[in-house]
Formats: sequence, C-alpha cells, structure tokens
Amino acid sequence: MIAVSRLFSDDFLSSDGAPGRLRRELAPGAVHLPDWLTLEQQRWIVGQFHNWVAGPVPIRAAKVRGHEMSVRTVCLGWHWQPYTYTREATDVNGNRVLDFPDWMVRLGRKALVESSDDSSAGDDYTPDTALVNYYDETARMGMHQDRDERSRAPVVSLSIGDSCVFRFGNTENRNRPYEDVELASGDLFVFGGPSRLAYHGITRVHPGSAPDGCGLGAGRINITMRVTGLG
Ligand code: SIN
Ligand code: MN
Repeated sequence: MIAVSRLFSDDFLSSDGAPGRLRRELAPGAVHLPDWLTLEQQRWIVGQFHNWVAGPVPIRAAKVRGHEMSVRTVCLGWHWQPYTYTREATDVNGNRVLDFPDWMVRLGRKALVESSDDSSAGDDYTPDTALVNYYDETARMGMHQDRDERSRAPVVSLSIGDSCVFRFGNTENRNRPYEDVELASGDLFVFGGPSRLAYHGITRVHPGSAPDGCGLGAGRINITMRVTGLG
C-alpha cells in the first residue's frame, strides 16, 4: 500500500497517478521530471517549431562520417554539425541560424531549479544553443556523448509528441551499465555535473503514443539546450 506521505507528495501528484512516472534521479546530476510541460506549453512550443523549420536554415539530417542521421535537426543560436558549432549552417545553405530565444533561457533556468530543488541552480545558466530534433517513427539515435560544447554546463532536454525509449548510460563507454527510460510528451530530463558526459541515445519511438492536445500529430520533437562556451 502506498504511504500517505508519498500519495500527497508533489512527485506523485505531478505524475497523475500513472505508475512509473515519478520524478527520479538516475545518477548524480541526471534527473527525469515527467509531465513538466503542460499541454498548452507543449502546443505553443510546437507552434514555435513550425517557425523554426520555416526559418533561414531548413531542418535537415546531419551527416555523421558521410551517413545521414535518421533524426532531422534544426538549431537555434549556434548551428551544430558533427563535431562543431558555427553561426552559419555551412553544411546546409550557409545562412545564419535563428537567435536563441530569451524565453528558452528562462525555461532552461527554471528546469535547473526544479530539477534540483536549489532555487539558485539556474542563476548562472545561459544556454546559447538548442538542437531541435524531429524523430519520425523509424528514427533512432545511437549512443553518444554531448561533447562538442566547450562548457560542461548541464544539458536540458524537453520532449513533445510520441514517447520514446531513452537509453541513459555511463560516462566511460556506450555499453552497459545503462538504463532505459520512457520519455513522454512534456517530460524534462536534465544531465549535468558528474552525468554531463554520460553516453545516451534513443532506441525507439512509439508511434501514435502522443497525447491529444500536445500539438504534434505524428513523431517526436526533442529540444536540448546547451551552453557552447563559444564567444
Ligand atoms: C540527443 O541526444 O541529442 C537527443 C536526445 C533525445 O532525443 O531525447
Ligand atoms: Mn545527445
């Protein structure tokens, strides 16, 4: 039987009672907060996504060692291509990417505060790039580290649309130990501190699992905010 203290904890209430959807620290610095964004916030962000993909640099599949990724990416602030950041999308059309929006800086700071329960955790956090990934039902992302940034400030990850299996591993290599976590629409995942260089990837997307009202008819959007450490 569930303890009354747990029943009335913020964690349990925010999980909407769904088993296995509790806030959790997987490893020091790696925190999963289910249902962090409301459906209204998700819809609004999806509206922004439509503006981004229609922006100066179209969404595209980046090439890693000559092979196109199955995920398609549009960037804000700085343009990412393996293994570098530039202001202009030199591997797409040479245009400068859209500015990093102020609202996203504020959202990133809020994410750090709420994932740590330290009201000052976001004070020094100024993300300056976001990689916005779109996954169709067949897209995957292999195990990798986010290490093209000079800064080791936390990565803030938001998911909207279909749920997926997020594989969160160790900092040594792409093999075990790792843990598979379901990331659903509205979920926040932060990895910083000792987990900042943990290997991670997406092993599958669950088609048709997006909640009504999230704004995305098919597929999954993931936004990762980062600090490049570039001037
Ligand atoms: C990434 O590793 O850059 C994206 C992770 C995700 O799609 O959740
Ligand atoms: Mn990554």
